[in-house]
Amino acid sequence: MKISILGSTGSIGRQAIEVIQKMPGFFDVVSLTGGSNIEVLRQQIKLVNPSNVCVKSENDALLLKKEFPKINFLHGDEGLIDIASDTTNERILVSVSGKTGLKPTLAAIENNIDVALANKETLVMAGDIVMKRAREKGVKILPVDSEHGAIHQCLSNRDEVEKLIITASGGPFRNSSIEDIKNATVEQTLHHPRWNMGKKITIDSATLMNKGLEVIEAHHLFNMPYDKIQVVVHPQSIVHSAVEYVDGSVIAQLGFPSMHIPIQYTLTYPHRFEGIETRSFDFIKAGRLDFEAPDMEKFPCLKLAFEAGKQGGTLPVVMNAANEEAVYAFLDKKISLWQIYEITKKMMDAHKSITNPTLDEILETDMIIRELTKKSTSK
Ligand SMILES: NC(=O)c1ccc[n+]([C@@H]2O[C@H](COP(=O)([O-])OP(=O)(O)OC[C@H]3O[C@@H](n4cnc5c(N)ncnc54)[C@H](OP(=O)(O)O)[C@@H]3O)[C@@H](O)[C@H]2O)c1
Repeated sequence: MKISILGSTGSIGRQAIEVIQKMPGFFDVVSLTGGSNIEVLRQQIKLVNPSNVCVKSENDALLLKKEFPKINFLHGDEGLIDIASDTTNERILVSVSGKTGLKPTLAAIENNIDVALANKETLVMAGDIVMKRAREKGVKILPVDSEHGAIHQCLSNRDEVEKLIITASGGPFRNSSIEDIKNATVEQTLHHPRWNMGKKITIDSATLMNKGLEVIEAHHLFNMPYDKIQVVVHPQSIVHSAVEYVDGSVIAQLGFPSMHIPIQYTLTYPHRFEGIETRSFDFIKAGRLDFEAPDMEKFPCLKLAFEAGKQGGTLPVVMNAANEEAVYAFLDKKISLWQIYEITKKMMDAHKSITNPTLDEILETDMIIRELTKKSTSK
């Protein structure tokens, strides 16, 4: 299988390289892309010997070209789009973070390349456009998110579905008071109890905005109305999500928390092979499984996401952009954790949503909200 990994230096990208190494001879890596982490990229180039590599800056591309003269080096957003458009690929993994994923995903779809999609922001920003175009072109969008990977495996006849049940670990503040959440430090917030992920998604997991983004992602991926999507807190993160059918049957997908399984599933789909986690699960070791309702007062970002998703138009774009910039401001210690919610809500309240936005309208709204959020967090 000829594949490329966009965002190979990130948490998902590095685990994808591990999956590839576990299956020698199965994958041929056409291209890798990184942002600024040149050291990790250098090691990955030596491991998988790609034909093309894209980095963020031209300087880094020139530097690496001297070390690896046989490789074609590209840079910037245009480079990412070129890599995603390369029809040598049978599948691409989009595991860049934030809004960077949208254009390359659309480029792959236009070129009839199946997408293993980790970048949930792509569907939150432009789910209608992306899924419509994928359907028209017959391109598969295979979800890497463990919850959506689980639903993908449990879903058969959509007409017979009663609801999708998305599980959430609850993050590091599940048992904290609102006061403690308001005073949480960056270090406490980055300490996720179950998953080791990139910084942006780790902060989103602490506010439950990540679960909100996943609700919108599920709506688009599985064409499911919001009133048929339920979020359930499950601290052990063993049930990755479930589908309830109209006859009362509930089908769930289980496993100890690991992204290797969903990454491998999207890269080898529709086939399954022995992998890194084969034979790791044990019901007896798993022991008890707990479930509870999410606390919308302590985690109001989840409420915002349901509102944004239900209203649609450009409101999810606003929520996504404001949240992302506010998360970076929190990581830079310019605002508190709770202000991520307050700022995002303020941006959403002030926005007049555009119905059925074009891609240009989405990108323009995204840019404006990012600027406004940066201004309001720099004071
Ligand atoms: N981590 C998880 O377990 C997980 C689970 C489900 C879904 N996801 C989703 O998968 C995506 C990636 O998450 P992650 O945790 O792997 O993030 P991450 O560790 O922060 O990695 C992000 C990747 O994107 C690259 N990147 C960032 N900005 C870029 C830019 N402007 N141009 C080019 N490359 C850029 C980074 O490059 P450098 O590091 O080299 O700068 C890195 O390779 C997110 O959308 C997230 O929501 C992640």
